[in-house]
Amino acid sequence: MSKLNLLFFGPPGAGKGTIAKEVSKKYGIPHISTGDMLRAEVASGSELGNKVKEILEKGQLVSDEIMLEVIKNRLQQKDVEKGFILDGFPRTLPQAEGLEKLLEEIKNPITASLYFEVDVETVVKRITNRRICPKCGKIYNLITLKPKVDNICDECGTQLIQRDDDKEDVVRDRYKVYMEKTYPVIQFYMKNNNFFTIDGSGTVEIVTKKVFNILEGIV
Ligand code: AP5
Repeated sequence: MSKLNLLFFGPPGAGKGTIAKEVSKKYGIPHISTGDMLRAEVASGSELGNKVKEILEKGQLVSDEIMLEVIKNRLQQKDVEKGFILDGFPRTLPQAEGLEKLLEEIKNPITASLYFEVDVETVVKRITNRRICPKCGKIYNLITLKPKVDNICDECGTQLIQRDDDKEDVVRDRYKVYMEKTYPVIQFYMKNNNFFTIDGSGTVEIVTKKVFNILEGIV
């Protein structure tokens, strides 16, 4: 299999994390979610975590400088040998420029960009009903992807939680930030080869199938 370096784009709640986990499992490449990495920092109480906690709660973006440093370190780890899925990065034009420069330096270009298109009302409905497992990271939904036992993770038995930034007013603010700062990044990548727009409004099974079909065509 050739190397699979993927960028996942789409508004909050588009299903990037959910689909990335399926792709990661099938292709054996790490799912690198900058949101997950930042939440882990907050939970650890580290200096970086304390710095970014309030930014995350408000749905604003962490500085480009910090994010580029985080990604630079992450892409130097050994597990990206077969490829990677970047979910939530790049989110601004300076991040995109920084990433392109970094990948050029390490001679490891992007294979494909996948953009999950979902409308804002679907986003709000999905996110306000999202629950996550704080231990293994599995993502649930109280309407579409319920756990077998109420509020308990099917995989590891841990009590599910709601993310601090998953309240309706914060979700709407995150969507505004996405349209203002991240949509221009998507337009930048749209001009490249291997850019795919996917209707993300179907069920998880339908969207996963579409993604697997696309990836089978390029590996
Ligand atoms: P981040 O964690 O990246 O959040 P996001 O981009 O807003 O995306 P989400 O995780 O909310 O959504 P998703 O698309 O992964 O959806 P999911 O699969 O969970 O970032 C959080 C914060 O960190 C940012 O606001 C910012 O502060 C900071 N940050 C992160 N990266 C940064 C960067 N590069 N620069 C600066 N700051 C950064 O699905 C959502 C729900 O829908 C779930 O309940 C799921 O079960 C359900 N669902 C999924 N797919 C379907 C489907 N097809 N049908 C029905 N239900 C579905």
